[in-house]
Amino acid sequence: MTAKPARSVNDAATGTGSGGNCPRHVAIIMDGNGRWAQRRGLPRIAGHRKGIEAAREVVKAAGALGIEVLTLYAFSSENWSRPASEIADLMNLLRRFIRKELEALAGEGIRIRVIGNYQAFESDVVELIDRAIARTADNRKATLVVALNYGSQFEITEAVRKIAADVQRGALSPDDITDQTVEAQLSTHGLPPLDLLIRTSGEKRLSNFLLWQAAYAELLFTDTLWPDFDADSLKQAIEEFAQRDRRYGGL
Ligand code: FPP
Repeated sequence: MTAKPARSVNDAATGTGSGGNCPRHVAIIMDGNGRWAQRRGLPRIAGHRKGIEAAREVVKAAGALGIEVLTLYAFSSENWSRPASEIADLMNLLRRFIRKELEALAGEGIRIRVIGNYQAFESDVVELIDRAIARTADNRKATLVVALNYGSQFEITEAVRKIAADVQRGALSPDDITDQTVEAQLSTHGLPPLDLLIRTSGEKRLSNFLLWQAAYAELLFTDTLWPDFDADSLKQAIEEFAQRDRRYGGL
């Protein structure tokens, strides 16, 4: 698999003066909202609310840093196991986020893309998401990918199912299956390769997020809880990325 290298940071645009390599595609597992709230004696929803604010700030910062694609893990397929009241709170926050921020995001030239089976959400949420995708489809400045009801194993399983169906109807020979064949069936198809995967809150797991796509990504784990992650935290992460020596299995 060929990975186009991360390109050089435009110093003028970022004001960083670092001259390092800017990742083209950054993904974040936004973890720690509940603990942030708990430490303040607040309900979990307060952490999620603050988490949305952090997400908004980080989207802006990513654009300013010249990151082409930012992928945020907002709701995993495992999150259904949370109490119904928390799921309802998260859905309400998602509704509010789209209603409040869609026009601003559209105006900033951001294209919204969603990975995951969001069609399983309530119909009004699905409509809002579809509207956000359609409204921003022609934008080219940067892409915000929101992972909603996403699970990587399911994504890969679905890809395998489609490939098997192509083989069964004689459209594809097993000998012709390559990593590109699989990649073409993933929901991230067409996006630049994942360069940097960040997880907040001190947990050091991928939790079923972008397992295939993370093959050559740099992994960065920070103790910062997601609601405290800000533009400066992202800049620091990019600076650490720029120091890493990516060898893709070579020397
Ligand atoms: C993890 O905190 C976060 C989530 C379950 C996802 C919620 C994400 C946000 C509210 C930001 C949403 C952003 C967009 C773009 C809609 P946790 O509850 O797992 O925290 P804990 O591990 O401390 O309990």
